[in-house]
Amino acid sequence: MSYIAPVVPDNSPFSPAQRAWLNGLLAGLLGTDAAALTTAGMETILAAPAPAAPVESEEFPWHDPAMPLDERMKLAEGRPLERRMMAAMGQLDCGQCGYLCQTYAEAVARGEEKSLTRCVPGGKETARTLKELASATSAGAVTAAVAVPPKIEATSPPLAPSAPLLAQFEGALRLNREGSEKDTRHVVFRHENLSPAYKVGDALGVHATNDPEVVAAIIERLGVSASGEVDCPDGTRRALREALLEACDIGKPSDQAIEVLASRARDSSEADRLQALAEGYPGAEPANADLLDLLLAFPSAQPPVEELILALARLEPRLYSIASSPKTHPGEVHLTVATVRYAMRGRLRKGVASGFLAERAQRGSPISVFVKPAHGFELPKDPNVPIVMIGPGTGIAPFRAFLEDRRATGAGGKNWLFFGDQRRELDFLYEEELEAFRRDGLLTRLDLAFSRDQAEKIYVQHRMREQAVELYAWIRDGAHLYVCGDAIRMARDVDAALAHILAKQGGVGLSEAKSQLAELARAGRYQRDVY
Ligand SMILES: Cc1cc2nc3c(=O)[nH]c(=O)nc-3n(C[C@H](O)[C@H](O)[C@H](O)COP(=O)(O)OP(=O)(O)OC[C@H]3O[C@@H](n4cnc5c(N)ncnc54)[C@H](O)[C@@H]3O)c2cc1C
Ligand SMILES: NC(=O)c1ccc[n+]([C@@H]2O[C@H](COP(=O)([O-])OP(=O)(O)OC[C@H]3O[C@@H](n4cnc5c(N)ncnc54)[C@H](OP(=O)(O)O)[C@@H]3O)[C@@H](O)[C@H]2O)c1
Repeated sequence: MSYIAPVVPDNSPFSPAQRAWLNGLLAGLLGTDAAALTTAGMETILAAPAPAAPVESEEFPWHDPAMPLDERMKLAEGRPLERRMMAAMGQLDCGQCGYLCQTYAEAVARGEEKSLTRCVPGGKETARTLKELASATSAGAVTAAVAVPPKIEATSPPLAPSAPLLAQFEGALRLNREGSEKDTRHVVFRHENLSPAYKVGDALGVHATNDPEVVAAIIERLGVSASGEVDCPDGTRRALREALLEACDIGKPSDQAIEVLASRARDSSEADRLQALAEGYPGAEPANADLLDLLLAFPSAQPPVEELILALARLEPRLYSIASSPKTHPGEVHLTVATVRYAMRGRLRKGVASGFLAERAQRGSPISVFVKPAHGFELPKDPNVPIVMIGPGTGIAPFRAFLEDRRATGAGGKNWLFFGDQRRELDFLYEEELEAFRRDGLLTRLDLAFSRDQAEKIYVQHRMREQAVELYAWIRDGAHLYVCGDAIRMARDVDAALAHILAKQGGVGLSEAKSQLAELARAGRYQRDVY
């Protein structure tokens, strides 16, 4: 490949300020010595088609979901309050809180957002750290201390969801064969206004309801009427049964709700244990208890029902990466949903939304859904740019959508998919479709990693390393890289594998390879949708 000078062209899709910044960055990273550039290998990666993503001017070294909270907080030490608050977030930019990690932290620090419990991946750990940071700074000082962020595209909340609409639930077909340990469903919703509302890469928010059996057991334990009206955490007033089904988070009782139980426990040792749980003492038991677990474990707690319900957090919708292209399935949205089921303290527990979709939603019934636009997870603007998609398990979802979309638009770019799951015979999700895409050439390459078909685990990143030479050639030719699925284990290991491949094939050190990867991400050529 010939050398291309590291200057962002005038006709690239950047503002003059962004172009100047990028040119400065490239000059700083690469210098002007073309020979040196060739040995570094960086120019061939960055000289690929012009990136389209907005540019962030500030580094967030803690912005890594795999990094433990205390390490993230250390990296943010000495930074302004909103940055320390950002370091306390789950670092997924998943949008479940309605913001990005950065913008949620800024809104809290400025006093515009009062709720400190919105970060789903961060959970209680994040909520507690935010509480500590907020209480260490008086409210007035907080607001005054926070500089208004510069108005660059990357910091304004880009996640405004579409208005909810009642879509018809068409079914949840099991994708795993009989005998699989997993239960992954292909879910279809229909509504004529759905397909115009989304593009591939977006997610769908689903308002599910709690399990009626668990709700009935809670009401029985409370010993009250199911039809008495109560005020709900979402501001509505409903019969107790409906409140518990539709409006309250009974899976993860809030600290306030646990405090209500503690304050109404007649047995002092139960009260102490509940108080320790509410305050998050390390080792406080029972860990990961849902509301029913607590009511059963602390029989002396007799809370006033109104008070308890109002102290619970509200039941939030769940997000799912959209698995269909609106061009291929007008009026429909498809999802790929892993059903969460596990045993704890002798009870089978089920995920609220995944359990609802797999077991309780009735075909033809209306369900409230909304489209959540993607934050930096989209196909290249240029249809001829090659793409590499890495999506084991439910991570396949957006890539089915990407492939359908590229087929529908006749995009000429090459497509490479790395997919994996437990067993080929049982868990090859969308096998017929993917094999057909491969046969007819839409899928240029399909590399598979079935982890439990042999004694040693084989994961997607092992296949990537096996194909390092070709993968590096694709990256050099301007391919965009996409990763979707599990954030904590898979995405971290895939990231490490990519850095290793850039280092080995480009003949550079690991830290240089990591910088190259970070630069690819900044340029919009390495995008992740992980959860
Ligand atoms: C942007 C985005 C896209 C997503 N896309 C998808 C997708 O395409 N497909 C998909 O399936 N999911 C996807 N998710 C995840 C999805 O939103 C839900 O989090 C997931 O379905 C679980 O929700 P639930 O209501 O079924 O379970 P919940 O009721 O929320 O229960 C889940 C909780 O149960 C607990 N738990 C689970 N397993 C165990 C265990 N073995 N032991 C102990 N505790 C356990 C954990 O605390 C976990 O947080 C996505 C998330 C985001 C943010
Ligand atoms: N509690 C459970 O037992 C259980 C089981 C399945 C899924 N889940 C949860 O369900 C959700 C969705 O599941 P999913 O279908 O998307 O994915 P998944 O079942 O978690 O994983 C899909 C594939 O990725 C493999 N994998 C595991 N660790 C990996 C790593 N570090 N790097 C690369 N690949 C790795 C898995 O192998 P192995 O599983 O063989 O290691 C499997 O083959 C996830 O949040 C997951 O945590 C839980």
